[in-house]
Amino acid sequence: MRRIGFGVIGCGGIANYFHLPELCSIEEVDVVAVADIKENRARITADKFKVSNWYTDYRKLLEREDVEAVVVATPHPTHSPIAVDAIRAGKHVIIQKPMTTRVKDAETVVECAKRHKELKVMVLPFVYFDNPYFDYVEELIRNEHLGKVCMARIRVAHSGPEKYQDDVARMFSEEGGDCWFFDKEQADGGALFDMGVYAFTMANLLFGKARRLISIMDTLDKKASVEDSAAIVMNMETGNIVVAETAWTQARGANEIVIYGVKGMVVWEDFLGNPIVKHYDSSSSSWKIPSLPREKEPQHTHRHFVKCIIEDTVPIGTVEEGKYLVELMEAARRSSEEGRAIDLS
Ligand SMILES: NC(=O)c1ccc[n+]([C@@H]2O[C@H](COP(=O)([O-])OP(=O)(O)OC[C@H]3O[C@@H](n4cnc5c(N)ncnc54)[C@H](O)[C@@H]3O)[C@@H](O)[C@H]2O)c1
Repeated sequence: MRRIGFGVIGCGGIANYFHLPELCSIEEVDVVAVADIKENRARITADKFKVSNWYTDYRKLLEREDVEAVVVATPHPTHSPIAVDAIRAGKHVIIQKPMTTRVKDAETVVECAKRHKELKVMVLPFVYFDNPYFDYVEELIRNEHLGKVCMARIRVAHSGPEKYQDDVARMFSEEGGDCWFFDKEQADGGALFDMGVYAFTMANLLFGKARRLISIMDTLDKKASVEDSAAIVMNMETGNIVVAETAWTQARGANEIVIYGVKGMVVWEDFLGNPIVKHYDSSSSSWKIPSLPREKEPQHTHRHFVKCIIEDTVPIGTVEEGKYLVELMEAARRSSEEGRAIDLS
């Protein structure tokens, strides 16, 4: 059996709650090293997941020949320089969302990946939507069961990252209270870049590219130097109007996707970690609620990436698609700052 050595860069919340548990349950994967600038995090994470090697300088991890693939799970603005170093070191890379916070950094990643076509670079969160709920919604649109779709509303929001960051700090017996997500210097973007990226991804997957957008972003509740709430209205190239919303300012996490067709509607909600999708069909004046599995396979994100390496196929979520999301987010930021619509075509 072909085995793949992985390294994980950034040993915080997402590495400990998601990447490492999934990677460690895949037979073909050996996690051989982890890295974090905080020594205690690198050491404790390595102990917890029985990883033999840990570093405070990720470049040491990249020097290892037994590391064939890496996950970049560090704060947003660091994704691009670390991903570029990893690609240059000959590693396949999974880049956490958002790929970058600036289009110029996204271009650097795209250029670098183009020069190393032999490597797989997967940009999150596209692959998360390779799931039965998304397929159901997409099929209703594609097969015209909803009739003409004029509008859609996609909201991905939660109560803010500070409690989660405190939990992460506690996991390492550190004092909490220091939430980099709220700091412009460290995060270079707020709720839009943290959560809005999911709404933009879904809008892109369902309706393609936007030709114009107008956005309002504000900091309404958090003590933060970045936005905590944002609403973006987009004219899509296909003619639909899509409203993308995001926030850190509501009582709990909730995702709401509503596609409004003239013959039918589909509502996909995830309020309690239990998604539900409802299809209203005007020909029968009834709602259908299918029962669907959450994932196509256990640990789908990482299994998909491993399969792409083994079978030499293109991962879901390319650097070009990642760059497009950054273009949208940068345009949304500019639209809000300048108080005008931004033309994207
Ligand atoms: N896809 C998801 O579901 C999801 C969920 C949460 C976070 N994220 C994304 O993952 C990234 C990390 O978020 P998190 O919640 O794990 O944050 P975190 O603060 O819990 O962890 C980030 C870790 O990176 C380390 N780090 C910072 N700079 C580094 C560097 N140069 N080299 C090595 N380590 C470095 C920090 O010390 C920290 O331990 C963010 O971009 C975030 O948007 C994704």
